[in-house]
Amino acid sequence: MTVKVDHKEIWQFVADLFQAAGTTRENAQMVADVLIRADLRGIKSHGVSRIPIYIKRMEMGLVNSRAEIRILHETPVSAVIDGGYGLGQITATKAMKLAIEKAKTCGVGMVCMNKSHHYGIAAFYSQMAAEEDMIGFSCANTTALMAAPGGASKAIGNSPFSFAFPAGEQMPVIFDAACSAVAQGKIIVANINGQKIPDNWALDREGNPTTDPAEALKGFLLPMAGPKGYGIAVVMEILAGVLSGSDTGVHLGSIYNDLENPQDCGNFFMAVDLKTFGDPEAFKNRMDGYIQDMKNGKKAKNIKEIFMPGEIELKKEIKARKDGIEIEDDTFAPLVELAKKYKVKLNYK
Ligand SMILES: NC(=O)c1ccc[n+]([C@@H]2O[C@H](COP(=O)([O-])OP(=O)(O)OC[C@H]3O[C@@H](n4cnc5c(N)ncnc54)[C@H](O)[C@@H]3O)[C@@H](O)[C@H]2O)c1
Repeated sequence: MTVKVDHKEIWQFVADLFQAAGTTRENAQMVADVLIRADLRGIKSHGVSRIPIYIKRMEMGLVNSRAEIRILHETPVSAVIDGGYGLGQITATKAMKLAIEKAKTCGVGMVCMNKSHHYGIAAFYSQMAAEEDMIGFSCANTTALMAAPGGASKAIGNSPFSFAFPAGEQMPVIFDAACSAVAQGKIIVANINGQKIPDNWALDREGNPTTDPAEALKGFLLPMAGPKGYGIAVVMEILAGVLSGSDTGVHLGSIYNDLENPQDCGNFFMAVDLKTFGDPEAFKNRMDGYIQDMKNGKKAKNIKEIFMPGEIELKKEIKARKDGIEIEDDTFAPLVELAKKYKVKLNYK
């Protein structure tokens, strides 16, 4: 069963809740922006389903609800930031804003950050740059979930990353993926909702394929595209983690399983002003032509439409803005509890 919520009302609830739980109004709104964008796009694994663990970690003092980002090292084009163990949606929004500011002056801006926290969907931040006529990139490292090829223990996270490219008449192209066959959040949601998972998503503790999300959560995720996905995960972790000086690999704690220590997660953000390469309008016109060529390609039998990266999610967002967001009962129930606990309003049908 699901509950249907209006996106503006659930956004209001999330902003009110995080403010009531201790963040400033402005920061609480940033959290709501990122989480609701995920749910609007159908990425339920990274939307409001994460609220209970974020609030729990704030209550336990493992997330600093009043953290301010601090610049540790800076050049005109780059910065290394200490996120102060703040919520990732806040620290990452601020870090990407800084990358965009630098790109406005220098053509390119690159910012990496340590002491951040789980930041949600990578596309939110890359798209911030695309909205300024820039190419955007964002990535994060995550707690180790996958074994290296030939390894028999969790060694590396599934590092989400996103590139966003503006277009003219067409929708922007926004590739956003984790390096595992699927994001662990999808397995968490399947577990919450009592659903089975396909047998090529994860292995159990013994290294056997499993369709049971609970067993998968005790085992290892499989990388996308075998060793190539593993290689991309390593690259993303070097950018987000090694470069920023955050925890990496087995040293990076899980927001669910490590309830003793704050998470020292790393991020990397880049914004490239289209003007660095000439006329932005000319680029966007060429993007339109390119997208049309791709979409007009010959389709396989029974296929109605070819999609660009990010297009399915952007179309879901347009629909959900009109029709509302469906949230599973098991995801919604803890939100009702939090609404009561923090005395904030939560309207739903
Ligand atoms: N913060 C974290 O620690 C963390 C960790 C993992 C994942 N995530 C987030 O979880 C989300 C889901 O990740 P995922 O790896 O499951 O993504 P996914 O597999 O659902 O999608 C990956 C990409 O493929 C594109 N795509 C999918 N089907 C397509 C089709 N038929 N045609 C064209 N393009 C298509 C999507 O638009 C997207 O850009 C992402 O937003 C990611 O950033 C975050």
